[in-house]
Amino acid sequence: MYQTLLTELDKGTLVITVNRPDKMNALNKDVISELGKVLDEVYSNNEIKSAIITGAGEKAFVAGADISEFLSLGAEGGAALAKLGQDHVFNKIENSPKPIVAAVNGFALGGGCELAMSCHFRIASANAKFGQPEVNLGLIPGYGGTQRLTQLVGKGKAMELMMTADMVGADDAKAIGLVNHVVPQEELLAKTKEILQKVHTKAPIAVAKVIACVNDAAKCDPAGFDNEIAHFGACFITEDMKEGTTAFVEKRKPVFKGK
Ligand code: COA
Repeated sequence: MYQTLLTELDKGTLVITVNRPDKMNALNKDVISELGKVLDEVYSNNEIKSAIITGAGEKAFVAGADISEFLSLGAEGGAALAKLGQDHVFNKIENSPKPIVAAVNGFALGGGCELAMSCHFRIASANAKFGQPEVNLGLIPGYGGTQRLTQLVGKGKAMELMMTADMVGADDAKAIGLVNHVVPQEELLAKTKEILQKVHTKAPIAVAKVIACVNDAAKCDPAGFDNEIAHFGACFITEDMKEGTTAFVEKRKPVFKGK
């Protein structure tokens, strides 16, 4: 169905694998277009409860935007490339009401680091390496990296990483808050799926509202507190809230319906 992606639905989790291993899974126009399409599927298909984004092979998650497509672009073309990617992929991942987690299995550089950062959180294999090396190319990140790296690791570290183009390994990435867990490569997908299976047992509408509210906080949106109040109130008219609170009182496990 897709030329540049592999997809597999496993117990409600859609595993999306960027599949250009001979090009380190670099994000060319086709990958961006197909990621946009598969994200529409994640949003609309009720059988999909969550998604994982990973890369094919053992070496790279995604080694960036496809540099070979940059050569012919001018200012407008460059800005259009960044806007298309942000609108159709990166912001769509961040704003997805269903959890989307990056399973970072190797190099996550440039657009690859940005792809991982647009996910709701990140699990890395021990060989993963992160970096924003755009200044090596006379560029800056264009898929939201200047914003999301700063949100995740703070201003000083983000400045250093983007100015020096240095890569950080998985353990250092964990130490600065870029990834949540580091596991051996062969356990990466299983660990990521295990965390998502736990999320699947929770009330889906509440999970979606957590995503929306935390995104407000990460963007320092001054409306974040008021939005939290509105989302909190809206939970009270869901069937799942009645089920969750009743189950607690009745000392049993809740069964959520996403309603
Ligand atoms: N865009 C296009 N092609 C890329 C790419 C990218 N971002 N990253 C890797 N590739 C291609 C290489 O050109 C090479 O293609 P070829 O076999 O046709 O020559 C192939 O992937 C393998 O990469 P190679 O550099 O030979 O592997 P390596 O193990 O020596 O190095 C990296 C791996 C990731 C360190 C190196 O490929 C790299 O630095 N990539 C660019 C990272 C980057 O600057 N990303 C930001 C882009 S904005």
